[in-house]
Amino acid sequence: MEKREALYAGKAKSVYLTDDPDRLVLHFRDDTSAFDGQRVESLARKGMVNNTFNAFIMGKLQAAGIPTHFDSQLSDTECVVKRLDMIPVECVVRNIAAGGLVKRLGVEEGSELNPPTFELFLKNDALHDPMINESLAETFGWATPEQLARMKTLTFQVNDVLKRLFLDGGMLLVDYKLEFGVFKGEIVLGDEFSPDGCRLWDAKTREKMDKDRFRQGLGGVIEAYEEVGRRIGIDFG
Ligand code: ATP
Ligand code: TYD
Repeated sequence: MEKREALYAGKAKSVYLTDDPDRLVLHFRDDTSAFDGQRVESLARKGMVNNTFNAFIMGKLQAAGIPTHFDSQLSDTECVVKRLDMIPVECVVRNIAAGGLVKRLGVEEGSELNPPTFELFLKNDALHDPMINESLAETFGWATPEQLARMKTLTFQVNDVLKRLFLDGGMLLVDYKLEFGVFKGEIVLGDEFSPDGCRLWDAKTREKMDKDRFRQGLGGVIEAYEEVGRRIGIDFG
């Protein structure tokens, strides 16, 4: 497998073509962004930490029968993935109220959500990733009802696997965002799962161990990501 020219540079990752039309290389950069890219900083070791973290989680999800795009790790900061036709809809599950939900509905941060909620957002930075619903996604052709149903099922399956994994490490999986795409007609989990796209709290102290440390200027961002990883058995070398 040979890495070829860059296809796309996102806010945190760069995507490269390969000599295989069905495979891409994802390069996890040290760039960290928040507030729709209005704040960007480079955090040393972040690319390596998130690439290692994501590879571990994708392995766990694949082992649990969830189809993922992950193929193999290529280097400290790169992995090989299946090339998906990405669906521009982000799926968010929440177990505990935080972030946007607290702002939008005025509920208290930290309240348990039973049953967990499921939300859809349009992946569109210029519009600040607005919240959408199944009807809008169908009407505007972002995803079919069948695709949305499958994405919802898979997103909750991920919750079952990861809530347990993090709880075993003494952490609460507060919420997370997933992106899906289509590969040879099948809905497949794409993008990444790392502390950049989820909220994780220490189960006892409720200390934030995710990207909220960056958003809220709490410091110790990458140290927290590494601590999360260590607690679930990741060796960052
Ligand atoms: P955001 O931070 O909101 O996710 P972004 O586009 O800036 O947006 P990056 O993670 O920097 O995000 O960029 C990675 C890009 O690669 C994303 O647009 C993502 O949808 C896309 N992508 C991820 N996995 C795949 C895949 N398997 N096939 C094709 N594109 C993918
Ligand atoms: P949410 O609380 O709606 O937004 P914000 O983090 O901006 O307050 O996000 C819920 C979870 O999903 C949180 O862990 C962050 C993640 N997420 C992303 O990583 N990217 C996104 O574009 C969205 C909508 C959510």
